Amino acid sequence: MALTLDARALLAPAQAGAAALAQAQQAVEQAALALKAGALVGLPTETVYGLAADADQAQAVGRIFDAKGRPKDHPLIVHLAGATAAQWQAGVAHYARALPDFALKLMQAFWPGPLTLILPRRPEVGAASAGGQDSIGLRCPAHPVAQALLQACQAIGVQGLAAPSANRFGRVSPTTAEHVRDEFDAQLSDAELLILDGGPCPVGIESTIVDCSRGRPVLLRPGMIGIEALEAAIGQPVALRDQAAPKASGTLESHYAPTARVRLMPQAEMQAALDLLGADARHIAIYTRQPVSSASRHLLLRYMPTQAEACAQELFAVLRELDQPGVKLIWVETPPADPAWDGVRDRLQRAAA
Ligand code: TXA
Ligand code: MG
Repeated sequence: MALTLDARALLAPAQAGAAALAQAQQAVEQAALALKAGALVGLPTETVYGLAADADQAQAVGRIFDAKGRPKDHPLIVHLAGATAAQWQAGVAHYARALPDFALKLMQAFWPGPLTLILPRRPEVGAASAGGQDSIGLRCPAHPVAQALLQACQAIGVQGLAAPSANRFGRVSPTTAEHVRDEFDAQLSDAELLILDGGPCPVGIESTIVDCSRGRPVLLRPGMIGIEALEAAIGQPVALRDQAAPKASGTLESHYAPTARVRLMPQAEMQAALDLLGADARHIAIYTRQPVSSASRHLLLRYMPTQAEACAQELFAVLRELDQPGVKLIWVETPPADPAWDGVRDRLQRAAA
């Protein structure tokens, strides 16, 4: 059993009662001490929940890889405190050996927020978190609970938190504290994992990743900060990733996969298949924007929001919900070609691969 502590009062401190706020703050302090002692913490961020450890303790970081079943050479993102720009700059200076001008501009434009930058690593820090790479992924999250925890960590000498998404390797990322518990409850005791409940993640898919370690910006993973916004912030083009890009589990072709088989298709194709199966359509879950009809009473149907932001926010929770016993196929309507949908389309294509 993992221990879950409620920290949701920090989301709206002005509205929360004094007692709830004090309890949330206490939960955060307890989590910081657990991290200092080498334990793991389920960390709410605005994108997805992370499985965090002190980035500078190799043994604690090793526990993340063990718990996830993640290959040791897949690097982790290090999360930085950022109450002020000066604070995240100090964090960047601790881990990064160099900071190209375009990377600084991206940080200034989007931190704290759902953007991760890969930078050349100072060789003496973060080797375990970086999975042996000579670079390091850095992100300053905007979530109030994440920032409260990072502040509490700073106060006791923990500089950064290494955290991949808190799911077992290859599986759907968690966007609620309950998802994190579902992933690791059987495996980790409450001395090994403390989960901070910070409510459902507002962005819902993982951060945009830009590699800034090779002289020019390269997009490694699309997210809700789109390429156009990145280019506008730095006034230069951002390249798409190529074969030479470093290995990144979120960029493996098959990832974020439920147990049922996911298939992407246009609505017309989905409708034609349903017509063909008629009343016999079974074991199928459907996630579509445009309405479909079926003579079968055994379909599980969810409508996809028409806005990319709303779809991203619910996407992983919906995939988990549709992936229930008895469902063998999840049919998803292909997202629009519009760039606003790049992040969602990317996750769905990997879920379907
Ligand atoms: O939104 C997010 O980024 C979430 C939250 C928890 O912050 N984290 C997340 O972590 O998605 P993870 O480990 O599931 O995905 C991080 C990706 C991986 O594909 C990893 O390989 C890549 O970032 N990455 C991290 N450090 C890297 C490095 N030095 N070079 C190349 N890729 C790196
Ligand atoms: Mg992941």
